[in-house]
Amino acid sequence: METPQVAEEKETLARVTGETGGDLVLRRVGAHYEIYSNGVFLMDTRDGTSEREMVRASLAALPRGRGRARVLIGGLGVGFSAREALDDPRVSLVEVVELEPQVIAWHDGELGEAAGYVHRDPRCRVHNADIVAWTEAAAGRPQRYDAICLDTDNGPDWTVTEANGRLYRAAGLDLLKGLLAPGGVLAFWSANPVESFEALLRERFTHVEAIEVTVAHSIPDTVYLAREA
Ligand SMILES: C[S@@+](CC[C@H](N)C(=O)[O-])C[C@H]1O[C@@H](n2cnc3c(N)ncnc32)[C@H](O)[C@@H]1O
Repeated sequence: METPQVAEEKETLARVTGETGGDLVLRRVGAHYEIYSNGVFLMDTRDGTSEREMVRASLAALPRGRGRARVLIGGLGVGFSAREALDDPRVSLVEVVELEPQVIAWHDGELGEAAGYVHRDPRCRVHNADIVAWTEAAAGRPQRYDAICLDTDNGPDWTVTEANGRLYRAAGLDLLKGLLAPGGVLAFWSANPVESFEALLRERFTHVEAIEVTVAHSIPDTVYLAREA
């Protein structure tokens, strides 16, 4: 006999106007939390396997013996990617750039527990800023990163704002490459493979990998890793 499905209790905990001008919503579904922007699902606390893999694989690809690694993460979400970086003892600094102040604030409440209150770790700095503008400004600063991991969108061909598209185009990739320390790794999260984007990476980096991460009830997520030999 089949076990009857029990409907999970759903509750909208907050609805605010986000930085993009649309609705930013925090929902609780059973024991989990979900974030939506303009009606588009952004992230939830159920399973962060591919978001963690983006960071894990980047750090694993660093030159052997690289210590005191500095990591830049685009998009805080529920904090799984930041948690993965902080869990690596070689990491000395995690800078997270998050567009929505409310997403950051939710980490002091409902969202904090899922990834263990990443913003309270002394190695973690969470900046409330647009990663596109932030990386452009960073080009003029001396700081360089061993890993830059970007998960702000559903992928290069499905960005949450039009402006985010700049991260995935030629000029954006050149800028991001310039922010890498020698031997550094640039990583992107995508809900699907995007061949034209992979080609742009291959034009700029000697090593490019598209890692498929199995997801329940959907096509695999794709993590792109790009680095110089
Ligand atoms: C899919 S979630 C990130 C999930 C995250 N990797 C995790 O482990 O939970 C995307 C996040 O990027 C943020 N975001 C979207 N566009 C951004 C931008 N231009 N600059 C900074 N953050 C942005 C969203 O507000 C959201 O919090």
